[in-house]
Amino acid sequence: MDDAGHLPVLLDEVLELLAPACGEHGQTTGKRVIVDCTVGLGGHAEALLGSAGSDATLIGIDLDESNLLKTKERLVRFGRRVRLFEADFADTEAVMAEAGVTSADVVLADLGMASTQVDDSLRGFSFQADGPLDMRYRLEGRTAADLVNTLGESELADLIYRNGQDRHSRRIARAIVRARKRERIERTEQLARIVAGAAPRTGVRWKIHPATRTFQALRIAVNGELKSLQRLLEKMPGLMSVGGRAAVISFHSLEDRLVKRAFAAAAEAGTHRLLNKKPITGGAVEIYRNPRSRSAKLRAIERIQ
Ligand SMILES: C[S@@+](CC[C@H](N)C(=O)[O-])C[C@H]1O[C@@H](n2cnc3c(N)ncnc32)[C@H](O)[C@@H]1O
Repeated sequence: MDDAGHLPVLLDEVLELLAPACGEHGQTTGKRVIVDCTVGLGGHAEALLGSAGSDATLIGIDLDESNLLKTKERLVRFGRRVRLFEADFADTEAVMAEAGVTSADVVLADLGMASTQVDDSLRGFSFQADGPLDMRYRLEGRTAADLVNTLGESELADLIYRNGQDRHSRRIARAIVRARKRERIERTEQLARIVAGAAPRTGVRWKIHPATRTFQALRIAVNGELKSLQRLLEKMPGLMSVGGRAAVISFHSLEDRLVKRAFAAAAEAGTHRLLNKKPITGGAVEIYRNPRSRSAKLRAIERIQ
């Protein structure tokens, strides 16, 4: 954990891949624009700006107002070179237009949750500590509790299967519907207990808690994560300047599949090249220092025409 409460994953690898497009070593090819689509606590943003030419600017986007406030303080020394926007990264093109920018030299998206969100029990992302079943990055719209208490049984099962890839989705949905007839499901621990109770007893120790996939499924649904990612990926190649580089860090196979497909399509079109054919993952030391990086996969492309 760094001072901001979130350790940026694969930081060295991100810097190495994106530095050539950052204008480091005093390159004089004009002002560089860095767009961090998930600025979070500003860890990657600070390092990218630090390695970029002194006139490089950064546009930072996040849905979470509280993270943006912390990042504003963290990046204060860069002054007017940093502009932060509370927005969905699906709307990156519109944000760039608002900032008066038409193309970016560096684009980064580090998907999912920041540690500050996971560790804050009031945000309801985790069942490690009890809290309200919320899970929203931006505090508006439906919460996870709303979904769990209102969706029909088969809708819930489909959601848990599709977004959580949990083969026990039907049993879990049935247990949720049975439990909510007794009382509304409002708390993370309450839901985790219901899901664990629905897991088949095999006598073998769980590799991951049985509620892990249900929580992932709900978080993806509450925030429309895959739709936003798809919209970002459709626009991303066109938002990059020639010679510009983009990287996406994903944390599960549903995200990685979308990134892999979008980057392959850009490479096939001949406008971009893949900077790595296989995704880059964390080494043993990073995973030890930062367990969140265990499932991280980094893919990057460069615009060539
Ligand atoms: C893993 S964290 C990023 C951490 C950041 N790279 C750093 O070094 O501090 C992901 C961030 O993306 C934000 N986020 C998630 N979905 C988003 C979306 N659709 N649009 C904008 N921000 C989003 C979350 O609120 C969270 O702050």
